[in-house]
Amino acid sequence: MTASYVRRAARVARRVQLSALAVLARRRARSILERLPNPSQTRPHPSEPWLVTRTRSGMYIAAVGSGTRVDAYLKMGRGKTAERKLAREASAIASLGEEPTAAAVSGFAPSVLADGSAHGWGFLLLSALPGTPGDRLLGDEAVRATLLREAARFSTAFHARGWASKSASPDDLDEWVRRPLSVAEELLPTRERHARAQRLSSLEDELRGALDGKTLGLGPIHGDYWPSNILVDPVGHVIGVIDWDSFERRSLLLQDILHLLIYTRKLVRRSELGTEVVAALDRPAWTSEETTALSAAAARDGLGSIDVLRPRLLLYWLRQVALNAERQPRQTRRRDWVRTNVVEVLACL
Ligand SMILES: Nc1ncnc2c1ncn2[C@@H]1O[C@H](COP(=O)(O)OP(=O)(O)O)[C@@H](O)[C@H]1O
Ligand SMILES: [Mg+2]
Repeated sequence: MTASYVRRAARVARRVQLSALAVLARRRARSILERLPNPSQTRPHPSEPWLVTRTRSGMYIAAVGSGTRVDAYLKMGRGKTAERKLAREASAIASLGEEPTAAAVSGFAPSVLADGSAHGWGFLLLSALPGTPGDRLLGDEAVRATLLREAARFSTAFHARGWASKSASPDDLDEWVRRPLSVAEELLPTRERHARAQRLSSLEDELRGALDGKTLGLGPIHGDYWPSNILVDPVGHVIGVIDWDSFERRSLLLQDILHLLIYTRKLVRRSELGTEVVAALDRPAWTSEETTALSAAAARDGLGSIDVLRPRLLLYWLRQVALNAERQPRQTRRRDWVRTNVVEVLACL
């Protein structure tokens, strides 16, 4: 048997497995919705009856509605990890209402209409927000500029609510430096891990040094603030923000803006996280929208100037590598993913 035959067979097997899961997801959607108490929220959308699509993060989404309207989205996932992710999103949305952030997100975040688990599937029924996910409109340069400007403005308003000037605790340092660094280290093949040991340890010292004893602007972050999770009108004005499962109450405020800018570049250039981080470390050439967004966040983050962005960029990169490893364990174990997104960033330091 040749390697290519084995690879093809594995691909076919995976496709069959995925379509079987989609059938199962559709059945599960039906039974979850039928059991919910409020019938107006539990009908499938007539133009897309029981339509279930698989999202990037492996969740299944069904549109729910009446007439020509989509009233809600049912988000489902099978297994413990998916159940945890959905429960985290439900509690993040609930806590947004209590936080000082409530006024900033009111009307911009979906409401939780129902959540729970059934037969090994976690589910979350969310009110539908209007707008189009921003990643679909990035091809238009003018829309992209508006989206970046408005998304940065929304994020500043959101951060302003819960922001406080503080110093990092030992727990923060573990959470922001040690934990993601050990995830990145584990992704490396053994040979690379040995070869890069010195670099990993000096990176840890550098990042701890940039935070320890410094006054930082800390506050709530969305945690996955990129165009796919930002709903916009046709010209790029933000009208909703979804996918709150990576929300954090206390983090560095630049995380959201860096994710927005780096992932927008990644989408537009069809590149990779690592490639964009290396470019931003080396010669960022920020556009005027990017500079405005970064400067506003840097002032609040405690950084002051964006000329000294390097440690924040590296902290952002580490957090993103660790999140991706948790959400897409198959993809992030691929040798080419590790090379582009971990090894090449370490190599440029
Ligand atoms: N509350 C909502 N309002 C409008 N669209 C939604 C809503 N929730 C999900 N969607 C649609 O479903 C897609 C995937 O949802 P999302 O919560 O981002 O899942 P994932 O965690 O897989 O990225 C979104 O890009 C959007 O098109
Ligand atoms: Mg999303």
